[in-house]
Order: sequence, then structure tokens, then C-alpha cells
Amino acid sequence: MLTHVARPEEILNSPAVSAGLLRVEKRIHRLSTSSRLPLINGAAGRITGAGGKRLRAALTLATALALGGRIDNRVVTAAACVELIHAGSLVHDDLMDKAAERRGVRTLNAELGDARALVVGDFMLARAGLAALSVVSKPVAQTLASVVVELAEGQFQEIAELFDPGRTPEDALRSITGKTASLFRASCLVAHPDGRSMAEYGERFGVLFQVLDDLLDLASTAERLGKPVGNDLRQGVYTLPLLLALQHDHGDLRPFLGRRLSEDEITVLLTRLRSGRMIDDTLEYCRGLASDALASLPVIADPEIAATLYGLPAAYVDWTESLLVRALRSRTCPQPRSSDELDQGCGPWSSRSARTGA
Ligand code: IPE
Ligand code: IPE
Ligand code: MG
Ligand code: MG
Repeated sequence: MLTHVARPEEILNSPAVSAGLLRVEKRIHRLSTSSRLPLINGAAGRITGAGGKRLRAALTLATALALGGRIDNRVVTAAACVELIHAGSLVHDDLMDKAAERRGVRTLNAELGDARALVVGDFMLARAGLAALSVVSKPVAQTLASVVVELAEGQFQEIAELFDPGRTPEDALRSITGKTASLFRASCLVAHPDGRSMAEYGERFGVLFQVLDDLLDLASTAERLGKPVGNDLRQGVYTLPLLLALQHDHGDLRPFLGRRLSEDEITVLLTRLRSGRMIDDTLEYCRGLASDALASLPVIADPEIAATLYGLPAAYVDWTESLLVRALRSRTCPQPRSSDELDQGCGPWSSRSARTGA
């Protein structure tokens, strides 16, 4: 029997964080539609309006509360800036991936072409920096500018290592730390003058979050993922779960590296990876990251926020594990067996829709 595992974002739904997120939502909308060019506003507003879990913004709000701060105008703006940078980086990522859909809507590259998607992504990144400078503070604007540098470096490193059979787990971790964990770290840094005390927590949680996304790409199903499985393999991105599996390879996996794969080869490789130790090893690795993240938390006086931040990393590991169990069952028995299973699809937009009732 499947026990109910809560969506991790539900843990973040304390009244104070939820109320703050409503304000952040309005700020994100205002910032993404603030160009003098209506076409840019339409494009950027469509992407930010399509949702997303708002995990990074929630992390900023929870950090502010954890460190004894208030959710004031500056914190709301800082959280909105973090989300705008995230959304801008996804616009660029989708362009690079040639992805057609994200958050349940067509990507800007699919809708408007690569050139316009590129500059709308630029607009979103730059607009966030400007808002941080004019509404929050110079140090926060500097932190966010550094993050954009790290995002670019992490993404560049990933591209430089495509189809590289010599890629190591350390290489993958370095790229992830830049392209994903740096923004989680910054989500904590920008929340409060003492945000540095939460930075390690944010970074470890960010690595964990990306490794779980990478695992789902290899081990979930297309229906649950909302996109084809094995996209990372198709594109030559050798992610940490694959690299961990390679450490125990007896010659079944390595012949698939270093070149483009046919769809049949991808199916064979995915089957081998799923039937080996990859899933267990990756989940165990992530549980280690979750406990390292908790070990780096400062003392938090507010019990509700403490419970939230203590529970969040492990909740993501548990949630991913439950999705993989469901994926495994649906592979053996493709029909969803209950409306609950159907409801819990794992497209990136689904959880926020559930939270907002949208
Ligand atoms: C997607 O991030 C990109 C990764 C870092 C894996 P999210 O899953 O947080 O995306 P949204 O904001 O909820 O759409
Ligand atoms: C996240 O990585 C991209 C950024 C951090 C910008 P992925 O490439 O794994 O994200 P998805 O899988 O496309 O959502
Ligand atoms: Mg991508
Ligand atoms: Mg991915």
C-alpha cells in the first residue's frame, strides 16, 4: 500500500510564509511586466504567471523569519528578485535544451524563437538586479549579480562537459553548485543581514534539489515528469546519479558514454540504470546531503519555522522516493489505480497549482 507522502512545498505553507508569498507573487508580476515594451511584458509575464513552486522565494521568507526578521517590503522584493532570476535562467535553459514546454505552458523559445527568448531572459535577470539595487540594498544587489555569474559558469561548465566520458562526480557537483545551488544559497543570503549563517544550508539543499531532479530525469516516467525521460542522456549531460552508477559498472554502462545515443539505446541504458544501484545510491547520497544541511542550521527560536527548515530537505528526498515507487508500479501496471495517483503528477507546475487551487 502507498502511504501518503506530503508534497514538500506544503511544509512551507505556514501562515506567515503563505501570506508573504501572496505579496511576493504581486511583486513578481509587477517586475516582470515593467518594461516599456508591451511584447516583453507579455512574454516575461506569461512565464512568471504560469507558476512554479516558488520554493526559492519561500526559502527567503522562511530564512528572514528564522533569523528574527520581519517580512517587510525589502524582504518581499528580495524574494521576488530571486524568483525572477530563477525564471530568467529557466528561459535561457529551455532555449539551450530546445524545450517546448515548462510549467505547463509553451516555452518562449518555442513560442517566439530563440532570439527573442534570449533577450526576454536577459530582461528578467537584469530587472531583478535593478529592483534589488533600488528597493533592497547594494549588498543584496551584489549578491544577486554574483549569482548570475555563478549560474552562467555552472551552465557553461555543463555544456563544456557534454558527452565527456571522463566527467567525474566532482565535475558534476561543481556545475550543480553553480547552476542551481548558488541561487538557493543566495535565497538565504538576501533574506537578512545575518543570512550568511543560513548560506551553507541553502547551498546543500540546492545541490540535493538538483540531484533529485537529475534522478527523476533518469528514473521517472514521461507522464509524471511532464516531458520525455532521459533528456539529460539525450543531450549528453552525465548527471550525478549516472556517475554514481558508473562507479559500480562492470561494463554494462560505459559503452553508452561519449557519443549520441539512439532512442533504443537510451531505453536499454535507462533500464540498466534503474535495475542497478543508481536509485538507492542517489537517494542515500541525498539523505546525507539533507543531514549535512541540517547540521549547518543556526539555532532557530520560532518553532514553526524551525520545523519547516528542519523538515524541508528530507521531505524532498521522501517525495522523490514516493514518485519513483509510483513510477515503478506504473511501469509494471501502466494504468493509474486511483485518482490520488493521478492527482499527484510531478510536473513542475503541478504543486503550485495544488497550493493555489489554480
Ligand atoms: C527547476 O526548478 C530547475 C531545477 C533547478 C531543477 P524548480 O523545480 O524549482 O522550478 P519551478 O520554479 O517550480 O518551475
Ligand atoms: C536546471 O537544470 C537549470 C538551471 C538551474 C537554470 P536542469 O536543466 O536540470 O532543469 P530542467 O530539468 O530543464 O528543469
Ligand atoms: Mg534543462
Ligand atoms: Mg533536469
